[in-house]
Amino acid sequence: MFEKTTYIKRRKKLKQKLKEGIILLLGNDFSPMNYASNTYKFRQDSSFLYFFGLDLPNLAAIIDIDSDEEFLFGDDLTLDDIIWMGRQPSLKENAEKTGINKTLPLKELSLRLREAAGRKRSIHYLPPYRGENQIFLNRLLDIPISKQKEKASADLIKAVVSLRSVKEDCELEELEKAMDTAYLMHTTAMKMAKPGVYEREIAGIIEGIAISSGTIVSFPVILTKHGETLHNHDHSNKLEKGDLLLVDAGCESPLHYATDNTRTTPVGGKFTPLQKDIYQIVLDAQIKAIQSVKQGVAFLEIHMKACEVIASGLSDMGFMKGNVKQAVEQGAHALFMPHGLGHMIGLDAHDMEDLGENFVGYDNEIKRANTFGTGNLRLGKKLRQGFVITIEPGIYFIPQLIQKWENENKFRDFIDYDKAKKSIGFGGIRIEDIILVLNNGYRVLGKPIPKSIEEVENTAHP
Ligand code: GLY
Ligand code: MN
Ligand code: MN
Repeated sequence: MFEKTTYIKRRKKLKQKLKEGIILLLGNDFSPMNYASNTYKFRQDSSFLYFFGLDLPNLAAIIDIDSDEEFLFGDDLTLDDIIWMGRQPSLKENAEKTGINKTLPLKELSLRLREAAGRKRSIHYLPPYRGENQIFLNRLLDIPISKQKEKASADLIKAVVSLRSVKEDCELEELEKAMDTAYLMHTTAMKMAKPGVYEREIAGIIEGIAISSGTIVSFPVILTKHGETLHNHDHSNKLEKGDLLLVDAGCESPLHYATDNTRTTPVGGKFTPLQKDIYQIVLDAQIKAIQSVKQGVAFLEIHMKACEVIASGLSDMGFMKGNVKQAVEQGAHALFMPHGLGHMIGLDAHDMEDLGENFVGYDNEIKRANTFGTGNLRLGKKLRQGFVITIEPGIYFIPQLIQKWENENKFRDFIDYDKAKKSIGFGGIRIEDIILVLNNGYRVLGKPIPKSIEEVENTAHP
C-alpha cells in the first residue's frame, strides 16, 4: 500500500467532488475458474484499490458524505479459513491501514443501504463488471442487472475519472518500477524470436518473468506471427524465417499499476526490405505522435496526425494514393490501421474502461467519432499534465477486411487493392510505448525498449 494519508486524501477529494449522498464501493471477491474453490488469481477492483489500497477479497465500503463517516465492511476469517489459507489481518487492522475507524460485518451493508434508500438518499455506485458483484448489487439495492449500468452514478464516475486520470508521484514511481519488468519481458521475447521456436514457448517465458518479478501480466499476452489479428491470444504457431513476431504484453507493479508495450521483431533478427519500409512508417508515426504530446493538445488531433504519417508512407509505397489528408479525413487509412492510437493507462491497462470509455476518453468538448477506425479511438480529449497514455500506431494486412472493402468498392480513389492483396500474409506491425503528459511536453516511461530497426535487429540477432 501507499501511505495511509494517500488514501485519506483521495477519499476527501472524492467527497468534495460529489457533495452529497452515499458512495458505495465494492471490492472484488475470488472468482471461480472451473469449480468454486479453484479460483483465478485474485485481482482487486482498481477503484477500490485507488481509494482504499486493500488488496484483499470480500470487502466493501461506504463513504457517507453527509455525515462524514466511512465504513469498511467485511468478515474476519474463520478458523477453517485460517487452516487452509493462513492468517490474514483482521477487518479492524485493515481498516486502520487505510485510515478508517468504523468496521461492520458484510451482512450489515444491505441494512445500511436499505435504510438510506428508504430515506430517499442518493446512493452512488460504479457500474459493476463482474457477475458476482452484479448479483451482489442486485441483492443490495434491488436494481436488475440489466439496469445497473444506466443507473450507475454519472457524478461518481466523473469524479473517479477526474481523480484517477491525473497520476500522483507515488503512482508514477510504481509505473516506472513495472517498466523494469516490461523491459525484460520484451527484450527476452526479441532474443527468443528464432526460426523453429513456438510462440507458446516465448509466451510462457515472458509471462513467467512477470510472475517471477512478483507480479502478474496486466492482460493476456498477445504474442503472434499473425499480428494482423489485433488481439491475438493464440500461441500455437511455430516461427519461421520471414515471419514478424508481434508481442503486445505488460505486467503489473506490486501495487497493480499496469504496463502495456508492443514491439515487432523479425524472426531470426533481420527485417526483409518490405518489412523494413513498413516498420519505418509505423515508427515515424509513433515518434511524431509522441513528440506532439503536451498538456492542452487533443489526443484526437495526435491520432489524426499519426494516421496521416501512415497514409503518407503507404502512398509512397503505392498501397494508397490520392490526397493524404482527404484519405485520412474520410477514413481510408483504417484499412491498414483500424484501431485507435492509444488509451489511458494506470491501475488498468485500459485505465478505467469499466467505468465507460466515453467518460474516460471524451468530454463535452470532444465527442467520439462514429467512423470505422477513428471510432475505435478510446481517448480523444485534451491531454492534461499527469495523464499517462499509450501511443501505439500499427499497420496490418487483414485479408478479410481488404477483401470486403474491395468487394464494396470502398475508397477506390485512395487504395490500390491489387497491391494490398499482394501483401496478404505480411502480418502486422505495432509499436507501443507509455507516455507521461507534462505541461510542456512528455516523458516516455521506463528504460527504452529497443525500437529502431537497428536496435531491434541488434537485440534479436545475437
Ligand atoms: N494491449 C492492448 C492494447 O494495446 O490496447
Ligand atoms: Mn498493448
Ligand atoms: Mn495499449
